[in-house]
Amino acid sequence: MVKLSELQKFLVDKAIIFPTAEMYGSFAGFFDYGPLGVEMKRAVKNEWWNHFVRGRSDTVGMDGSIITHPKVWEASGHVDAFHDPLVECKKCKTRTRADHLIEDRLKITAEGMELKDVATLIREHDLTCPKCGSHDLIDPRYFELMFSTEVGAVEGNIAYLRPETAQLIFVDFPRIYKASRGSLPFGIAQIGKAFRNEISPRNFVFRAREFEQMEIEYFFNPETRIELKPNDTKVNVLTRDAQDKGESHTPLKISSLVNFTSEWHVYWISEVWNFLMKIGLRPENLRLRQHTKEELSHYAQDTWDVDYLFPFGWKEMIGMANRSDFDLKQHAKHSGDELKVLDGDKKIYPWVMEPSFGVDRLIMALLSDAWYIDKDSKDKRQVLRLNPKIAPIQIGVFPLVNKEGMDTAAWEIYLELSKHFRAFYDSKGSIGRRYRRQDSIGTPYCITIDGDTLKDKTVTLRERDSMDQKRIKIRSIGTKISESF
Ligand code: GAP
Repeated sequence: MVKLSELQKFLVDKAIIFPTAEMYGSFAGFFDYGPLGVEMKRAVKNEWWNHFVRGRSDTVGMDGSIITHPKVWEASGHVDAFHDPLVECKKCKTRTRADHLIEDRLKITAEGMELKDVATLIREHDLTCPKCGSHDLIDPRYFELMFSTEVGAVEGNIAYLRPETAQLIFVDFPRIYKASRGSLPFGIAQIGKAFRNEISPRNFVFRAREFEQMEIEYFFNPETRIELKPNDTKVNVLTRDAQDKGESHTPLKISSLVNFTSEWHVYWISEVWNFLMKIGLRPENLRLRQHTKEELSHYAQDTWDVDYLFPFGWKEMIGMANRSDFDLKQHAKHSGDELKVLDGDKKIYPWVMEPSFGVDRLIMALLSDAWYIDKDSKDKRQVLRLNPKIAPIQIGVFPLVNKEGMDTAAWEIYLELSKHFRAFYDSKGSIGRRYRRQDSIGTPYCITIDGDTLKDKTVTLRERDSMDQKRIKIRSIGTKISESF
């Protein structure tokens, strides 16, 4: 497992992901993606969109506004309840998330704990300031997580930057459902930025103040049964019950999760799992964790997270909540609009399953999963074993030497390949070095154009993981690469 400091250094040095505005000392919780990072991010988002939107006949896409009508967040409950417990040091004034202080020091989960219980634990265990070690901490209080801004020329016209993409889907549901001539079950998906004024952003992009989400709200009638296909895939599972007993995760078949949650939930767990396998995550670094009763959000009947074994431990990467009819009922109450839909001969408030992915967390997981140092190689070859679908560059094109017609032939091949793949042309340095450079950023294939290419229209195709080299016809390069996707 890669160390966080190693991964972070690599990502910053290669300008894949790095703190924003470094020349001004950066800006905690905000990050920029450079050329390779943005290619990978786009590829991950495209895979997700193709899988969950284009790949399904019951789901459509949308793109909602970021600065949102304040009533949306009153109805959703965010204005009243979207806050984290904050503790402040009297001496050095450092502000820390109180539940994280408890988790770090006492090794227990404190997320969702009531403020008075948080205060009691801090007092009873005499927890100290993480910065200066002082015992003098001000009693915890809640800190609002939504960023607000003022809209237009009228003072006090407060609006919020969306802290999740989900609510835009709920408020747009009636129009989209009608225009799509929808019937239940019906999904609406969205990819976009979300903003949270995190008290202590940490672990690189894992907890940022500006991040991106890929969310689906899947509307269904809870009285309709879903036919589950048997799924014997075994995954690491940590149920609510196991957590209450202090046990750790155990391997269970996905189908057997119907013993712990609804069939609709199991259906979505299975769909999400299939996607994670498709983009190449390693199952041993993943687990499904059911939320305990104490940590369930105000809107959730049940929630299962996909946790990833990050360099700093098991942490949430994806949340999958059963939101029941909470949101549509809230928006109906606050707007006065009728938000029921006809299902069969009955008008109902549909229930909602919500698979919610954090793009940045998924990218961080994919990168740390793919990180590999070949200890047997002389120069400790560093390889990012990324799935070709999401590698920032899919093929490197090299002329053996930058003359004698090899350069022009290589350039032509590069131009042709870049119409279909993320291709990169490199004519500088030894071939060995060029291969190593591409290995370290995850490029699955490289081709070298040499003297023979000009005679017999073949190139050397070199594979990243095995380092095998084969001679193949120029015209079969595309097929060869596509086959590996
Ligand atoms: N609509 C439901 C919702 O937003 P959430 O568990 O608060 O649920 C969903 O967020 C996902 O968004 C998380 O699983 C995580 O991947 C990502 N996420 C949440 N807060 C984040 C943050 N501060 N930085 C990066 N990603 C975050």
